[in-house]
Amino acid sequence: MTDTTPETHEPGLENLLTEDRRFPPSPEFTAQANAQHGLYAWANADRPSFWAEQARELLSWEKPFEEVLDWSRAPFARWFADGTINAAYNAVDRHVEAGNGDRVALHFEGEGGDTRTVTYADLQREVSKAANAFTALGVGTGDRVAIYLPLIPEAVIAMLACARIGAPHSVVFGGFSAEALSSRINDAEAKLVVTADGGYRRGSASALKPAVDEALTKGTPSVQHVLVVKRTGQDVAWNDEVDVWWSDVVDTASDQHTPVALEAEHPLFILYTSGTTGKPKGIFHTTGGYLTQAAFTHRNVFDLKPETDVYWCTADVGWITGHTYVVYGPLINGATQVIYEGTPDTPHRGRWWEIIEKYKVTILYTAPTAIRTCMKWGEEIPGKFDLSSLRVLGSVGEPINPEAWIWYRRVIGGDRTPIVDTWWQTETGAIMISPLPGVTETKPGSAQVPLPGIAADVVDDEARPVPDGGGGYLVLTEPWPSMLRGIWGDPDRYVDTYWSRFQGLYFAGDGAKKDADGDIWLLGRVDDVMNVSGHRLSTTEIESALVSHPWVAEAAVVGAADETTGQAVVAFVILRGDAGGGDQEADAVQTELRNHVAKEIGPIAKPRQILVVAELPKTRSGKIMRRLLRDVAEHRQVGDATTLADSSVMDLIAQGLSAPG
Ligand code: WT7
Repeated sequence: MTDTTPETHEPGLENLLTEDRRFPPSPEFTAQANAQHGLYAWANADRPSFWAEQARELLSWEKPFEEVLDWSRAPFARWFADGTINAAYNAVDRHVEAGNGDRVALHFEGEGGDTRTVTYADLQREVSKAANAFTALGVGTGDRVAIYLPLIPEAVIAMLACARIGAPHSVVFGGFSAEALSSRINDAEAKLVVTADGGYRRGSASALKPAVDEALTKGTPSVQHVLVVKRTGQDVAWNDEVDVWWSDVVDTASDQHTPVALEAEHPLFILYTSGTTGKPKGIFHTTGGYLTQAAFTHRNVFDLKPETDVYWCTADVGWITGHTYVVYGPLINGATQVIYEGTPDTPHRGRWWEIIEKYKVTILYTAPTAIRTCMKWGEEIPGKFDLSSLRVLGSVGEPINPEAWIWYRRVIGGDRTPIVDTWWQTETGAIMISPLPGVTETKPGSAQVPLPGIAADVVDDEARPVPDGGGGYLVLTEPWPSMLRGIWGDPDRYVDTYWSRFQGLYFAGDGAKKDADGDIWLLGRVDDVMNVSGHRLSTTEIESALVSHPWVAEAAVVGAADETTGQAVVAFVILRGDAGGGDQEADAVQTELRNHVAKEIGPIAKPRQILVVAELPKTRSGKIMRRLLRDVAEHRQVGDATTLADSSVMDLIAQGLSAPG
């Protein structure tokens, strides 16, 4: 059973409900905005037809659809199911056919300062070549391809080449370990893995190919080839039977390729995300509905003007934000965008602002953790750069505390730009709750209103909508075009996880409040999922990684409030007396176990802190009471412990922690 008491876990959110600053849109912005207030009434009158209109207007269909929504097998939705379409054609070819081949699609900026400019015509040639090469390597429509690359143009090209031939891609973030990679390859039964020798990170070349080699030695029977992009030129181990260089097979392939017309419900991609159990879920999305909502939200939430804007979303393509708002949304809309390989502080802490000045970025989409980090570094740093090109700022990934919101608007946005705080999830595929720039009077810290065509509510334990001013659980009450179509290979887990908590409602896993105006304020996860720097991590997954170490008998992991990362991973472990761990110094245990977690999952999952304890607090039924551990990790008075099987455990933990050494 999951403890689903809504609680506030995020720093600075305590003051959310007293936040009363308001930012009305400027008349100048409203006059030119893509989104107009009438969209809400239009969508409310008939949601499915509203989305059908968007699908026809924003996308080019190979065969137009007649059917709109089939919800007869709920919660398994079908949108626009009798139409056929190709995602890569929509993202690339049609812009070239419309005479915009010379428009820049990607301004690539490498961490070391190397650059590449990729126009839509270039992209058409590169994606066609890659599609031909993938086909020659035996990848057919319906086969899966794993992509494990740094954020370089080939990542975008590989994704689009998959879409072009109808081979669902499964992008695995380059920061994930060989272990995580191999389990994702196997779950999706990927036939091809696309990777690179390495990428640049924090000023040096960091290897990727060895992780793929290691993943393959663990046993990945479905993999026939590994396609390797040369990025850093570092030495790589080579297996002639499996490995092929991108430069040998893609660069030499024909640049003519006809996109495959696919049914609207053909799977476009699988993306793994953490849930409440140890096993990551392969969330899968299909084509027509996903692209419709990606394009609609990108155009209206960011007010994109493809002829004049320079858009930059700082996400990696390893996350859903990179899928929807680096690849599909912007390219479907014909945008010009920046992609940047490296970290914000390499080689200096002004790197992002330097990039904005250089490319005259007009729309910036990033995460609260990045904003808080920049706040910490000081406003003199962005102050040295000309940021006057910016006209819309977006935030995603976790609740943004009002002070960070205000700083973002004042320091980065020159007190002028609208801010859109966008709530959504890997599962929702695209933005669901957000202000519309030029329409909504914004409130710092609130995502505010469901977008036109989206229905959300906040309900209590019995699924009753809470009144304005009340708090509870965020639910989505109507199907939406870009909704996940399921969990890859596990339809029951899809129904159990999202549709069983409240009859007929999608349970998002977030706590939320409605203010006096009925606007929605997100309060963080209510399940065993943590949010560290906008990345989703499962407590159970990290616990299993910890207990897989011979020193560890038991582990409990909580997300504790952290000023910069939102939440941080704090682990409580019981060591095995017999296995050597008990004789170690606390520091050595910390280091060893932190590295072990990095190896099992990836560096992002490393606990900030590991506390060795003698007991863990458990209920009579054996469930660990993480709520109490969170109190300890956040240095709070420990809350109600009356349901503990042994009520002295918390005293023991508290004593152990305050004891010297
Ligand atoms: C979880 C989804 C959506 C792309 C990035 C994360 C949290 C996301 C917000 C926001 C408050 C937010 C939620 C959600 N979240 N955006 N604007 N305000 N919380 O995708 O990894 O699937 O995580 O991120 O808790 O459930 P994800």
